[in-house]
Amino acid sequence: MRLVPPYIEALVPYEAGRSVEEIKRVYGLRDVVKLASNENPLGPSPLAVGAIRQELEGLNLYPNGGLSLRKVLAGMFDLKVENVIAGSGSEGIMSNIIRTFLCDEDEVLTTESAFIGFQVLAKSRGVKYRTVPYKDWHYDLPAIAGQINEHTKIIYLANPNNPTGTIFTRHEFDDFYRHVPERVLIILDEAYFEYAKDNPRYPDSMHYRYDNVITLRTFSKIYGLAGIRIGYGFAHEDLIGNLLKVKLPFEPSALAQAAGIGALADKEFVHRSLEVNARGMELLTASFRRSGLKVIPSEANFIMLVLADEAEAKRVTEGLLEQGIIIRPLKAFGLPHCVRISTGKDEDNRRCAESMKKVLG
Ligand SMILES: Cc1ncc(COP(=O)(O)O)c(C=O)c1O
Repeated sequence: MRLVPPYIEALVPYEAGRSVEEIKRVYGLRDVVKLASNENPLGPSPLAVGAIRQELEGLNLYPNGGLSLRKVLAGMFDLKVENVIAGSGSEGIMSNIIRTFLCDEDEVLTTESAFIGFQVLAKSRGVKYRTVPYKDWHYDLPAIAGQINEHTKIIYLANPNNPTGTIFTRHEFDDFYRHVPERVLIILDEAYFEYAKDNPRYPDSMHYRYDNVITLRTFSKIYGLAGIRIGYGFAHEDLIGNLLKVKLPFEPSALAQAAGIGALADKEFVHRSLEVNARGMELLTASFRRSGLKVIPSEANFIMLVLADEAEAKRVTEGLLEQGIIIRPLKAFGLPHCVRISTGKDEDNRRCAESMKKVLG
C-alpha cells in the first residue's frame, strides 16, 4: 500500500504473551497459569488499588500530565521535579524518546535480541537499527562501544536485560560510559530494577547522573500495575523538558498516576513480592537444572532457557500449554531456540516444574 512507508510495512507487530482466557478456550482447560509476561503473580499493589478507587469520583476532570507523581518521585529520590517524567508505562516514555530525539539519518545501537518492545518502537521510526551479539548472554558493552559511529544517536541498554535476565555491573558500565560521546543518548531501561537492586554489583543508575543518560522504570512489574500503564524516568532537565513538549499533554491518565503514587507507599507489598520471586527463582532454577536444562542465571523475575533448537522450544512451549502453563517462546525476540518463564506464586512454580519434567519425559 503506497500510503504506508516501507519500514512500517516491514514491521512485525508486537505480539503480547497469550492470555489465560485464550488458552482455556483453545485447550479446553479450566485452570491455566500465565508465566509469560513477567507480571506480578500476587496481583496489583493494594495501596494502588485503594488510590485508584479514591480517584474515580474525579474522572470528569483532565489530569495534570503526571505532575503529582513527578513531585512524589522527586521527593523520594532527592531530585528536582524537572528531572522526572511520568508516562504510559516505560514503553510510553520510550516512544516519546524516539519521537523527540531521532532524526532520519540517526542510528540506534543495542544488543542482539533486545527487549521486543524497544525493537518494535525503534524500527517504527525507520532509522537504522544496529545490534551487537551477546557475550555469554550478557550485553557486550566493549563491543557496543566499538560500534559507535558518527550517526549513533541512541544506545539502548536494559539492566537487568529482558529476555536473558542478566545484568552488567557498575564497573562495566563505567568503563563503557567513558567511550560514549556526549551527543549519544543512553537509555538505561531498569524495568526490573527492584529485583536486582540488592546485588552489590548492580549499578543503580541513580548513584551517578550523566547528562546523556535517561533512566526508565516501571510500575508494571514489582508493583503489579502492568494493566494501568504507568512508568517513569529520570534525566537531565533539558532532556526531560524536551520530552514533555512531545508527550501527549494529559498522559498519564488520572487513574494511572494515582495508582503509581499509591504503589510507591506500598513497602509491604514490594517486600512480599520480592520474597515470592526469590523463592520462585530458586525453585524453578534448581528444578530446571536437575532436569538437565540450560538455565541462564537471572537477576529479575523470569528465567531464560536455552534449548537445543527451535523445534525443541516449540515442543516445550506446546507441552506446557497442554498442561495449562503459558510461557514465552522467544522467536519474536530473535532467539527461536529459547523460551522465557516468569516466576509465579509458589504453587504455580511447583506446577510448572512438575509439568516441565513431564514434557521432558
Ligand atoms: C526491559 C523492559 N522494559 C520495559 C518493559 C515495559 O514496561 P512498561 O509496562 O512500563 O511499558 C518491559 C516489559 O516487559 C521490559 O521487559
